Amino acid sequence: MNAPHASGYAETYARWQADPEGFWAQAAQAVEWIKPPKAIFDATQGAYGRWFPDASCNTCFNALDRHVRDGRGAQPALIHDSPLTGTKAAFSYAEMLDEVATLAAVLQDLGVGRGDRVILYMPMIPEAAFAMLACARIGAVHSVVFGGFAAKELATRIDDATPKLILTATCGIEPSRVVEYKPLLDAAIDLAQHKPQHCLVLQRPQADASMHVTRDRNWRTLTAAAKAAGRKAECVEVAATDPLYVLYTSGTTGRPKGVVRDNGGHMVALKWTMDNLYDVKPGEVMFTASDVGWVVGHSYIVYGPLLQGATTVLYEGKPVGTPDPGAFWRVIAEHKAVALFTAPTAFRAIRKEDPQAKHLAGHDLSHFRALFLAGERADPDTLKWAEEVLKVPVIDHWWQTETGSCIVGNPIGLELLPVKPGSPTVPLPGYDVQCLDEGGRPAPAGTMGAIVVKLPLPPCALPTLWQDEARFRESYLTAFPGYYNTSDAGFIDADGYVFIMGRTDDIINVAGHRLSTGGMEEVLASHPAVAECAVVGIKDALKGEQPCGFVVLKSGVTQSPAEIERELVALVRDRIGPVAAFKLALTVNRLPKTRSGKILRATMKKIADGEDYAMPATIEDPAVLGEIGLALKGRGLG
Ligand code: COA
Ligand code: AMP
Repeated sequence: MNAPHASGYAETYARWQADPEGFWAQAAQAVEWIKPPKAIFDATQGAYGRWFPDASCNTCFNALDRHVRDGRGAQPALIHDSPLTGTKAAFSYAEMLDEVATLAAVLQDLGVGRGDRVILYMPMIPEAAFAMLACARIGAVHSVVFGGFAAKELATRIDDATPKLILTATCGIEPSRVVEYKPLLDAAIDLAQHKPQHCLVLQRPQADASMHVTRDRNWRTLTAAAKAAGRKAECVEVAATDPLYVLYTSGTTGRPKGVVRDNGGHMVALKWTMDNLYDVKPGEVMFTASDVGWVVGHSYIVYGPLLQGATTVLYEGKPVGTPDPGAFWRVIAEHKAVALFTAPTAFRAIRKEDPQAKHLAGHDLSHFRALFLAGERADPDTLKWAEEVLKVPVIDHWWQTETGSCIVGNPIGLELLPVKPGSPTVPLPGYDVQCLDEGGRPAPAGTMGAIVVKLPLPPCALPTLWQDEARFRESYLTAFPGYYNTSDAGFIDADGYVFIMGRTDDIINVAGHRLSTGGMEEVLASHPAVAECAVVGIKDALKGEQPCGFVVLKSGVTQSPAEIERELVALVRDRIGPVAAFKLALTVNRLPKTRSGKILRATMKKIADGEDYAMPATIEDPAVLGEIGLALKGRGLG
């Protein structure tokens, strides 16, 4: 590709291109290993090779112990700021190490050891981060499940990960309600085939929970007893290639994909990004407004800032309404964050409520250096608004749960490249990003195609899917041999800037949350009145996209369509969870199909979005499209 600049970025990228192993060997020196890597990459292992195949390490040691040893013990490691409960708390590195080592001892007492899986179903409280690190400390593999998922989704993950232990709290807190976790967890365990040996339950003051006599254990009681007995777990040596965590993400069906992250490569790549992409130095404060249930939360609420010896802000609140659209500015000012990382949807929400950014007044943001946006396309309007009001660089960057860190970004730690609104800028070292046409040939500059990455993937990117190598190969490596298929479509311009325009599969992005329309269709189809259905993501001014379900009812159904539509909305909320934000079910007489029976979802989406569309040549009956348009008009859409 054409590198856009001949200074810091271009030189660094060229250095990686010339010698990828040398590049990562050097980056690996920032990590403290137990057995340092002699081999950097082994192309013969795994689906495309493995990084640091002979090294051993402990991620928790690098995130906590080494900083305490090196004199950062008194520095805040984590600040919990919770407008939803009206509380704030700070934990120094020494305090956090104490909490984590104690909890890790409790996990060991409950029989958890190296390689065992532990599911975390936790809200945005410090104990969520302690639990992740406690697992890392003893070589257990954590799998965090986002609190907005329903019992059935949790059950699917329990069956796939087969955890020995589940860690939870009695509730999460949303502005409108207290979300009681324990009934959801109990229901999930009932639904699942696999049963964990124990659940460790943290009682929060906002909700009590009844405890299962033999299965459940009280978090505070056990950690208090361990503290009183001076019990602490030491760091366990693990292979660099051992999994640190499994994080489930939406696939094209209702069955999520268990993305595996290894210990060694993850540390090396995250450390590199803290310096070169985010430019957050040891001792500085990073505020990532996401959730520990998402990859952004894993990488930049927990691991990235702590590996760097920085301070992380764990924020239990929303961008608006807790209490106002100045919430982020208050947090940045109060905790002196140098960087904020969030999803564009949060900025659309703030702008909608405070277009003049009046709530900025009175907050001192003089130390604030950059805003980072990811999770969905940063629309140029929102990006420009953020630049105007914050007067700092606004960095769109593109990545996926699968990669664990950025693929295409603007590496301000190296140099700030000129921003082209709508583009996350350029590929970072490790990523040879290409745009291919349907035949797998390079697409000309500026022409839309499939965005792919030449193998091997760099350290941190997934080596496989949890216990499903065949699905890994089929999902990512088969469509374009020799390349990782990102399932994003876009183009690369003549300057080498990458533009990511949308997914090529059935994944939609609602408020920065990745959701499967296939999964929603499975739920709709399970309703006894539904003959067939199609779910598409349609444009939404705030959330980017929202799901819209078109359903055809079985003949002879006597219930009113309005009643069925209400039941369908409730069913998706019950089976997938509130995070699906499924509010729109539309009854239609027929679905538009090709003559071979394929539902024309892309055309339906265009009609709903009010966009021009070409009549598909293979359509069975063009009149159906008019019917879809009318149904949408009836709801003020299209
Ligand atoms: N536990 C339980 N329920 C949750 C939840 C959680 N952790 N997170 C969200 N929900 C619920 C919400 O309460 C909402 O429920 P409702 O239908 O009863 O209102 C539903 O899930 C949808 O949530 P969301 O899509 O987040 O919409 P919202 O209206 O609550 O908030 C924004 C909209 C833009 C303020 C919010 O999405 C936001 O802050 N986004 C920031 C970006 C972000 O975190 N992205 C993650 C990847 S970086
Ligand atoms: P997730 O795995 O939840 O992080 O979602 C990854 C998907 O979100 C990507 O495949 C993209 O479709 C989308 N995405 C994330 N960041 C961006 C971005 N900066 N620009 C465009 N799309 C993005």
